[in-house]
Amino acid sequence: MIGTGYVGLVSGVCFSDFGHDVICVDKDPAKLEKLNAGQVPIYEPGLDDLMAKNVAAGRLSFTGDLAEAVDGADAVFIAVGTPTRRGDGHADLTYVMTAAEEIAHALTGYAVVVTKSTVPVGTNRKVHAVIRLANPGADFDVASNPEFLREGAAIDDFMRPDRVVVGVENARAADVMSAIYRPLSLRDFPVMSTDLESAEMIKYAANAFLATKITFINEIAALCERTGANVKQVSKGMGMDRRIGDKFLHAGPGYGGSCFPKDTSALARIGQEHGVPMQLVETVIKVNDEVKRRMTEKVFDLCGGSVNGKIITVLGVTFKPNTDDMRDAPSLTIVPALVGKGAKVRVVDPQGFREGEALLPGVDWVDDTYMAAKGAHAIVLLTEWNEFRALDLERVAAEMATPAMADLRNIYSADTVIAAGFEQYVSVGRKHASVGASQEFSDVQSAAE
Ligand SMILES: NC(=O)c1ccc[n+]([C@@H]2O[C@H](COP(=O)([O-])OP(=O)(O)OC[C@H]3O[C@@H](n4cnc5c(N)ncnc54)[C@H](O)[C@@H]3O)[C@@H](O)[C@H]2O)c1
Repeated sequence: MIGTGYVGLVSGVCFSDFGHDVICVDKDPAKLEKLNAGQVPIYEPGLDDLMAKNVAAGRLSFTGDLAEAVDGADAVFIAVGTPTRRGDGHADLTYVMTAAEEIAHALTGYAVVVTKSTVPVGTNRKVHAVIRLANPGADFDVASNPEFLREGAAIDDFMRPDRVVVGVENARAADVMSAIYRPLSLRDFPVMSTDLESAEMIKYAANAFLATKITFINEIAALCERTGANVKQVSKGMGMDRRIGDKFLHAGPGYGGSCFPKDTSALARIGQEHGVPMQLVETVIKVNDEVKRRMTEKVFDLCGGSVNGKIITVLGVTFKPNTDDMRDAPSLTIVPALVGKGAKVRVVDPQGFREGEALLPGVDWVDDTYMAAKGAHAIVLLTEWNEFRALDLERVAAEMATPAMADLRNIYSADTVIAAGFEQYVSVGRKHASVGASQEFSDVQSAAE
């Protein structure tokens, strides 16, 4: 397994739990030092125990020596990063191609070189060409095996997938791949076989579709705010239609994370390159930027138009709960905008500090929500960690200088927050509530939620 990031490490650990012998390779000495000391360098629930179990069983190890790991392997997985290339929005394939070349020189017998990283259509054929050029005598096939796990639920997603997609070119590679995934197919999880290009396209199409669904409900939310509709009721009513489904239909501060922003951007570039502009996806990207901007304005409005000199407490900065991943998190747009306008921002996040410290300069990190609320002029709920779902709101309000909340994940209801002593409550796609305003309408909304 080349690369021990969120995907490579989870995949390596889970494959070893299937009973396979796995050697994980990384170039980052700090990561390797931790892994070899039995520590997981990322935050992913359950990963530490599963890793320890399989290391102890002798099936899982870590090294910086790629050649040693590839020697004698039946399959070599490439699970390195494919971030957005600076300047043009395309997927940066430098890490994938470097890994392919290194693998080429290390191949000793027949092996399938499997790309697990998310890569544009045509990349597997380029990987094949790179290996062939670097090692003309190598005995190998390539396969595309995109990963669909979600951070925060990665082990369960890997062990109980909706489907596994395997793109191959011949039966020999297909046999190796089906042996690797046999523990899943035996338990009736679908392992779908495709050609290389379709497997590559499935990953981008799936992510772009999910990003579109989120953005659709975010745009509906903006219209709800103007018309008096309640987006929570709207998405519930939509989601009960099984053709639509209720997943990825929660209005919020815009999508972020390690995949949707870069994958929508890469798909738009792939479309342009092939003369088939992905007009929907291009619009989704623009609307999502607009959504994040609108969230910042909500906070300005909540603070009476200016945040200058105000203390603002932000709850949650990782791109979603149960991960420490900060890549393209909406907080990276919203928090600097507040700091830039003179706000004193305090951040509370159970896991965000390690990554977030460098990314969010000028903020104070506080461990405890109630301490962070002391003297604050507004509280912004940005990432719905469980510990923010059941706050003692009366205590929070009592600590604040001006009790006002922007609930950008629609966790609470206006009635509960106002009854707890808050003077103002704004959320996404629902009516703004404040003390003294008619409660009748919001009572109806809360009852329905
Ligand atoms: N993070 C997710 O939730 C997720 C989900 C599905 C798919 N993906 C895709 O999986 C791929 C990996 O994503 P990630 O989030 O795990 O990335 P990551 O940045 O967390 O990890 C990549 C790792 O690869 C290592 N690396 C790079 N080049 C190497 C080389 N030549 N040899 C050894 N190690 C090398 C890096 O040091 C790093 O540890 C991406 O293409 C991503 O789009 C990610």
